[in-house]
Amino acid sequence: MKDKERLEYLTSWLNQCNHHYHVLAKPLITDAEYDILFQELVKLERQHPTWALLDSPTQKVGSKVMSELGTYQHDIPMLSLDNAFSLDDLNRFDQRISQVLDEYEYLAELKFDGVALSLHYHRGRLVRAVTRGDGQRGEDVTHNAHTIASIPKELISSHIPEYLEVRGEVYIPLESFKAWNATQQKSFANPRNTASGSLRQLDSSIAASRPLHFFAYQAFGHDAIDSQQAMLTYLTSAGFQVCEHHRLSSDLGQVVSFYEQMLSQRNQLPFEADGVVIKVNSLDQQQQLGFASRTPKWALAYKFPSQVVETYVKHIHFQVGRTGVVTPVAELEAVAIAGVTVTHASVHNIGELLRLDIRPGDRVVLKRAGDVIPKIVGLSDHRVDPRPPKVDIPSQCPACDSALSVTDNQLFRYCLNIDCPMVIKGALKHFVSREAMNIDGLGMKLIDTLVDTGMVSDISDLFQLEREKLLTLPRMAERSADKLITHIKRSGKVDFWRFIYALGIPEVGVSTARMLAKHYDSISSLRLTTQDKLLELHDIGETTSGHIVAFFQSEYQRVRLDRLLAVTDIDIQYRVNEPVGILAGKEIVFTGQFEQVSRKILQAQVLELGGVCKSQLTQKTDI
Ligand code: IVH
Repeated sequence: MKDKERLEYLTSWLNQCNHHYHVLAKPLITDAEYDILFQELVKLERQHPTWALLDSPTQKVGSKVMSELGTYQHDIPMLSLDNAFSLDDLNRFDQRISQVLDEYEYLAELKFDGVALSLHYHRGRLVRAVTRGDGQRGEDVTHNAHTIASIPKELISSHIPEYLEVRGEVYIPLESFKAWNATQQKSFANPRNTASGSLRQLDSSIAASRPLHFFAYQAFGHDAIDSQQAMLTYLTSAGFQVCEHHRLSSDLGQVVSFYEQMLSQRNQLPFEADGVVIKVNSLDQQQQLGFASRTPKWALAYKFPSQVVETYVKHIHFQVGRTGVVTPVAELEAVAIAGVTVTHASVHNIGELLRLDIRPGDRVVLKRAGDVIPKIVGLSDHRVDPRPPKVDIPSQCPACDSALSVTDNQLFRYCLNIDCPMVIKGALKHFVSREAMNIDGLGMKLIDTLVDTGMVSDISDLFQLEREKLLTLPRMAERSADKLITHIKRSGKVDFWRFIYALGIPEVGVSTARMLAKHYDSISSLRLTTQDKLLELHDIGETTSGHIVAFFQSEYQRVRLDRLLAVTDIDIQYRVNEPVGILAGKEIVFTGQFEQVSRKILQAQVLELGGVCKSQLTQKTDI
């Protein structure tokens, strides 16, 4: 598409999205997608100022207002905020300010993901409540504001001006939303849309029955207030709920550290916040900076990376994992989630695919799960109509064509071909990984080549690799070949727990492997164990014990293991000493994101130091 067409397309599409969001309260796309497209339009309009259309969404704040409720023309327009998505954006904002002001401070607050509301007080009494609407004119929702407990109906401050306007955000705390939603026949999508829908009802008993709250962040009409910080103090004293998370910052570094702190605490906050709002603290200086067409020049919203996004499924293919299990993989229309561009997502298993009923062409909701792997949580509310045809579930292995076996519960399909190249590659990649045999110099690409050339068709073949043969491979130098052979041979002397983990038994991670190594004196005794014996062990449940027993009973795994144990270099070290480290006996939970190292590596280090990693904070958590 040419730039001009794209600009026209974006203008029209974003206008439609705005109408659905503000008027119909049924968003067409997620906020994150809206933000991306909006920024694209801003950029195009900046590059070609004469092309900007009169009805461009960059020129207005919201959308037209619904007619059933009365409307009110705002005394002071309710503007929007410019968004920043990166440190660069933030620096540019600061530079623009430093061109106007010599000395200034910022007040950083949370950006609440709710609905903006303006409250009018006459002689301290709540007389009117108005939504943002199109920024100029909003809907009169006074009847509903009266039902919200955290909105004072009468101010309590010692200094109350004749007219005071207070602005803030109506929101629903997450826990209350969950509890309330559970009592509803049809569940609601999220707290924000529910808050917005509730506020705009004609019948105030509906709002009264919902757990609406209000955070105040702005007041007009009080002459003695000279800064944003003083404003928050005054609002608190007047009886408003003001969020405790805000920080006065003398430079951008402090703003960034507040942002990072809030980002890492984001999932522990009792309400939804989608970023941090940075405001020049002094009100005089705010006035000096003034406004652009739809946003103040003294404030900026630094958005958190989005955690839930929507996108289209382009194609669904099936991958065979190291245990032979066939996993559906959805190829996606590229989308940014939590700052990372995602093009693929795996669906847990075939049963999950059938349950979610995802088809190529569908629009789906993606969520960042735990670390980085995005998970498809379901179909978007904005379904494609008519639905595309169902996907064919394979009955033959996509890699080797052999017939797949189906588990009784229909959730899984397995390739049981011991020579299947995809299974071998998967098993090898796991076997050589850091926490398993830790073989250096054997990357993913080399493994693929070794299997594709037929040099390795079973894990045990690794230990028989010959120098001369390796040298026939592309880009394989003598030194690397020698090193690789040495590393492989050396890896054979291996702690029992690493060996157990390296086998790739489903559900057996590092912690379980360590525990098994502690309780069994050899691989032979582990092979002969029963589910009952396993269940006697601490921290092992039905599923994992079932997998372990099934693994050792499978003919396929028996052959594989026998071949491996016949390798002379394999020398399992039993009875390794108990880990005694500085974290011995401690339970550690990781939350948030890490820039330098992966969570997996950190967890492995904790284990090395004798600690135990858990996924959720409990009373037993030490660190
Ligand atoms: S100050 C000129 N502070 O974000 C607008 N807004 O995208 C000044 N919002 O309409 C608004 N938390 O609904 C401000 N701490 C906060 C906020 C906040 C959420 C909302 C508000 C505003 C929208 C702008």
